[in-house]
Amino acid sequence: MAPPKDLMEKIVHLAKGRGFVFPGSEIYGGLANTWDYGPLGVELKNNIKRAFWEYFVHGRDDMVGLDSAILMNPKTWEASGHIAGFSDPLMDCKSCKARVRADKLVEEFGEERPENWCGEKTPSKDMLAFVVKKGIPCPECKACNWTEPKQFNLMFKTHQGVTEDSGTAVYLRPETAQGIFVNFKNVLRTTRKKLPFGIAQIGKSFRNEITPGNFTCRTREFEQMEIENFFDPEESPWEEIFEEFKIQSLYFIEKILGIRSEHLLLRDHAKDELSHYSKGTTDIEYHFPFGWGELCAAGAYRTDYDLTQHQKFSGESMAYQSDEGKKCIPHVLEPSFGADRLALAVLVDAYHEETLENGETRIVLKFAPRIAPIKVAILPLMKKDGLVEKADEIAKSLKFLGNIEVDISGSIGKRYRRQDEVGTPLCITIDYETLTESSVTVRKRDSMKQKRILLEDLPMYLHRKIYGEIVGE
Ligand code: GAP
Repeated sequence: MAPPKDLMEKIVHLAKGRGFVFPGSEIYGGLANTWDYGPLGVELKNNIKRAFWEYFVHGRDDMVGLDSAILMNPKTWEASGHIAGFSDPLMDCKSCKARVRADKLVEEFGEERPENWCGEKTPSKDMLAFVVKKGIPCPECKACNWTEPKQFNLMFKTHQGVTEDSGTAVYLRPETAQGIFVNFKNVLRTTRKKLPFGIAQIGKSFRNEITPGNFTCRTREFEQMEIENFFDPEESPWEEIFEEFKIQSLYFIEKILGIRSEHLLLRDHAKDELSHYSKGTTDIEYHFPFGWGELCAAGAYRTDYDLTQHQKFSGESMAYQSDEGKKCIPHVLEPSFGADRLALAVLVDAYHEETLENGETRIVLKFAPRIAPIKVAILPLMKKDGLVEKADEIAKSLKFLGNIEVDISGSIGKRYRRQDEVGTPLCITIDYETLTESSVTVRKRDSMKQKRILLEDLPMYLHRKIYGEIVGE
């Protein structure tokens, strides 16, 4: 079933109200399309990044990690093709001054985008002629009065050092991948890995997007979680590695992050939408409230393009030599996830409104327990008779589970509702029996069922509920 249209508004409202995501630099009137993660948002995003690292890096013996610099030698971007090819064709409506992406305009009008419309090589005269021939109007004022498209490079340019001459120009990286490619030989030398193996990294990327929007889905500053898998295509067919990562990417999103499978689909890129480095890309799309859209790339077959380019531009050999003495430039299969986009999809997918027996509406975020921002909330029934102190003592003993909250304000019903709304999977009530019988009541978020558990059994019980269960298994 399609998510309701007003769901995005509800998510944005809840995210701001409960401390998941705030508008960026809000006290100064904000800065368009920038967002800050609040106390619960940072927990959620960190849990997603940690889950990625545990599953793809620690969970595999053919994967190692890296954390490379955002600012790189500008030659990197000449070699990678981003200076020449990482651009969008922009055209302006001469009547109302609206600025649009020529390729998106054509697509949204329902026309097939002519092949080879991406990159700086497409003659802008041809683009304009096509748009005029098809009579494609401005979405704002409906006039068909366009300027010739201009290629607009999406990389943010800045200057290193104190002068602003071109000699010191540097770029904020538009993908984390290049940090991995330029370190390929360093990693090989220090880990003595054999092909096939992968290098993963999590970090910020920056793109001067023409049409950012839909909350945190498309922003100019975002975090990526990328993996470059290096292999010899004569030893390991790329199709097999591609298949393996499609399965693992889906498993990660569905079973570990808990996004429902009916809201996901795999989509192969058409030839004309492939990035300049890719011979084949498959996205995982998510059914956002604003429609189906790219969630991540389950895989892009980058061939030996990047390592060959870096070898050419740096003069350093990027060749791998096997134990048998066979040399090759490794090929690459790349799954690439956006941490912010995943966090948004997790939020949207977790959002539920339920009508209770008494007619009240319960808002509940049904996060997979392992990625919930608060793992356990501890609720003393009264503020007196030592119940708060007991709650603090139990909270301390459960810190090993992650983020634990002691919540003492409001009626117990109100506190349950508050914890449901931020997706806390388990609430523990501390009552007088806790003092006399050494037991607590554990309430489950989704079923709202309660169970009495002895304090000595509590840590194991909670650990199993939070980390032991894989969604749907
Ligand atoms: N290294 C390959 C690469 O960067 P991509 O499809 O351009 O491929 C990969 O980006 C993922 O990064 C996307 O699927 C998305 O999750 C995330 N991403 C890309 N641009 C983004 C943006 N402007 N805002 C938020 N996330 C973005």
